[in-house]
Amino acid sequence: MATHFYTASSLDGFIATAEHSLDWLLSQDIDLEGPMAYPGFEKTIGALVMGASTFEWVMRHEEGVWGYTQPTWVLTHRDLALPDGADVRLASGSVAEVHPALVAAAQGKDVWVVGGGDVAGQFADAGLLDEVWVQYAPVTLGSGAPLLPRRLDLELLEFARNGSFLCGRYRVLRR
Ligand SMILES: NC(=O)c1ccc[n+]([C@@H]2O[C@H](COP(=O)([O-])OP(=O)(O)OC[C@H]3O[C@@H](n4cnc5c(N)ncnc54)[C@H](OP(=O)(O)O)[C@@H]3O)[C@@H](O)[C@H]2O)c1
Repeated sequence: MATHFYTASSLDGFIATAEHSLDWLLSQDIDLEGPMAYPGFEKTIGALVMGASTFEWVMRHEEGVWGYTQPTWVLTHRDLALPDGADVRLASGSVAEVHPALVAAAQGKDVWVVGGGDVAGQFADAGLLDEVWVQYAPVTLGSGAPLLPRRLDLELLEFARNGSFLCGRYRVLRR
């Protein structure tokens, strides 16, 4: 069992615009059967955790239809409305307190930190982030939601080209 941050990013290290738009990303070319693509990654995942903005983006984008089957935790200080019939719950506070429940729910599979970057940083701060997978789109945004706003040392484990994307898989080096 491991905990991974898997995300796409602009070349200059933003995962969304300041207005939480992903238009720059969704217009890119990717082979979903190709290396390091989402469908293969998703098969290894047993539980998800995400911040409130990411959850709200998914809800807007999918028009309220929840697409994930795995148990999901949404970190928020608010009483957000949850999708009907979905295995989603709200949590707040230290990610170290939430992590054991994620691991238990994942039943031997991996945990996916969906985003945003600071949530991934909170897991790294707690020594709970094992890998960072980034699909770099050939776009610069200049500003926006940061990829991973921490000082971390990482080891490059794997890289690939998939369509427009430069994909990297990195191991977080513990200090
Ligand atoms: N490029 C990609 O592949 C990709 C992947 C993931 C996300 N995204 C996008 O990136 C953007 C990320 O937005 P973001 O930077 O604002 O990050 P976010 O992590 O999605 O949301 C941040 C919010 O989560 C809540 N939160 C975070 N940690 C918490 C904790 N420990 N306890 C309680 N609440 C906590 C807070 O919201 P409240 O205080 O309001 O509750 C905080 O303002 C979104 O637009 C998302 O759609 C892109």
